[in-house]
Amino acid sequence: MKFFIDTANLDQIREANDLGILDGVTTNPSLMAKEGIVGEAAVMQHYKDICAIVDGDVSAEVISTDYAGMIAEGEKLAALHENIVVKVPMIKDGIKAISYFTRKGIRTNCTLVFSAGQAILAAKAGATYLSPFIGRIDDISWDGMDLIKSIAEIYAVQGYETQILAASVRTPLHIVQSATNGADVVTCPLSAILGLLKHPLTDIGLAQFLADHAKANKA
Ligand code: E4P
Repeated sequence: MKFFIDTANLDQIREANDLGILDGVTTNPSLMAKEGIVGEAAVMQHYKDICAIVDGDVSAEVISTDYAGMIAEGEKLAALHENIVVKVPMIKDGIKAISYFTRKGIRTNCTLVFSAGQAILAAKAGATYLSPFIGRIDDISWDGMDLIKSIAEIYAVQGYETQILAASVRTPLHIVQSATNGADVVTCPLSAILGLLKHPLTDIGLAQFLADHAKANKA
């Protein structure tokens, strides 16, 4: 399973990249706004900055919701860097745009996916990645992980090549469950990635090893 970081914060991207386990980055308009990245020129430059840090796929989301606008924006974004993946919302014109980008060899990430039916349509259109939002499903007391599992089953049965990118990840457990249920990629905040490191027995064991070493090597 590939690991993407879900942020537009350059310091956090660097910190995750330094771990040596990072395969890419996802952003969205809310994450860009959170970093104060405003206006087309600044947004474009920010994507270039991210691509300069991480050697992996970087999802850049279109703002337009009409076909012509999504095509114009997506082509501009894709031209920024070979690692840019154009992120397109799961709406009717979005599916048309993904089909167009597929024909043109531009890679896409279909975002805001909440059902297996949507996942089938995106795969038919040739999306490179599909982003089911598991945390937002959990937020309304459904089970986001059931959706990952059901999409993974459908894609395996049908032989679809679209990669399942578990998004809206909130916790380390979401990462573990995504791996169990067949996600190809997980995109998560830095806190969830770092949360995977934690186990009290690791800390206790290390403290004991170091204490024993210090005792034995006392001058
Ligand atoms: C990533 O591609 C999504 O935009 C993101 O994971 C959404 O996460 P949120 O539900 O925590 O905003």
